Amino acid sequence: MADAKYTRQTVTRVQAWVPGKLFSLRVSRDPAYVFQPGQFARLGLPAENADEAEAVPTLWRAYSMVSAPSDAELEFYSIVVPEGPFSPRLADLRPGDALYVDKTPFGFLTLDRFADGEHLWLLATGTGLSAYLSMLRDPTARQRFARVVLVHGVRTADELAYRDELQALADRDPRLSYLPIATRQALPGMPQARLTRLIADGGLEQLAGLELDPARSRIMLCGNPAMLADARMLLADRGFAPGRRGIPGNLAVENYW
Ligand SMILES: Cc1cc2nc3c(=O)[nH]c(=O)nc-3n(C[C@H](O)[C@H](O)[C@H](O)COP(=O)(O)OP(=O)(O)OC[C@H]3O[C@@H](n4cnc5c(N)ncnc54)[C@H](O)[C@@H]3O)c2cc1C
Ligand SMILES: NC(=O)c1ccc[n+]([C@@H]2O[C@H](COP(=O)([O-])OP(=O)(O)OC[C@H]3O[C@@H](n4cnc5c(N)ncnc54)[C@H](OP(=O)(O)O)[C@@H]3O)[C@@H](O)[C@H]2O)c1
Repeated sequence: MADAKYTRQTVTRVQAWVPGKLFSLRVSRDPAYVFQPGQFARLGLPAENADEAEAVPTLWRAYSMVSAPSDAELEFYSIVVPEGPFSPRLADLRPGDALYVDKTPFGFLTLDRFADGEHLWLLATGTGLSAYLSMLRDPTARQRFARVVLVHGVRTADELAYRDELQALADRDPRLSYLPIATRQALPGMPQARLTRLIADGGLEQLAGLELDPARSRIMLCGNPAMLADARMLLADRGFAPGRRGIPGNLAVENYW
């Protein structure tokens, strides 16, 4: 397996946030696996019913790294798509089980995409949050910005995974604002609205106490492709665009499906 493009890792912990829908998984990490916050791993599973001794991964999916680059293990945060070929099987793994990890980390939703800015806005729906957790857990990533605003849009409050950790981080670091937004349930003190509506009507800026200013703000978008498309249009009108031909932009986007 030394020549393989992947390594075989071992699951160390599984945590359900919403049973049957949302969970996190920790696995051992090859010390040679070096990544930047915001990048994703390709995770592999063998064919169903494959013989354990001869198992080779045949089914691969992308998963953003949740763990900080300094963490000895890798952590992932996942949804269960009931009819999906991969995620229900990932959800069934238990400590001691094997999970394969492509040796190469991928992706460009990284902070080096941006020229220096003052304010970093991290906007996610659903499991799109994953990509930002690694950045927020890495203190060096945040230090470049005077303010960091994390917006997590979900359907209902129980889907606000990592809420306690993120709130505790924001309580400790006055530069960080954590804005949990639910669309199908009222959260105390928060509007019940899609984050796109809150971009359009200025609600997000009001909640953060900060202006969306193309000269000073750097925005990342991650999660549902329809949200990305809608948010990109709204933000384009406000002067935000991804970088092109080596010229850094003020917007970076990652589609999950
Ligand atoms: C760059 C990248 C990073 C990703 N990171 C993550 C991550 O950190 N966590 C994660 O859960 N998924 C992530 N995904 C999605 C992941 O790769 C799988 O698609 C997902 O786990 C479902 O796998 P599946 O085989 O069960 O279903 P698939 O056949 O892959 O997907 C079936 C359908 O399920 C829906 N779907 C897929 N992923 C999601 C999702 N995350 N949230 C809501 N609906 C979804 C879509 O409608 C999709 O068409 C990422 C995808 C990309 C491209
Ligand atoms: N295992 C289960 O029992 C179970 C149950 C339900 C769903 N699922 C799976 O979960 C998937 C959905 O996951 P999810 O809820 O994390 O993701 P989601 O459908 O992307 O919803 C997450 C958040 O994004 C918002 N959103 C969606 N489209 C948007 C847009 N165009 N602009 C702005 N915001 C937008 C949603 O608002 P709205 O509320 O307004 O849409 C919601 O607040 C389904 O595809 C299904 O596979 C599983």
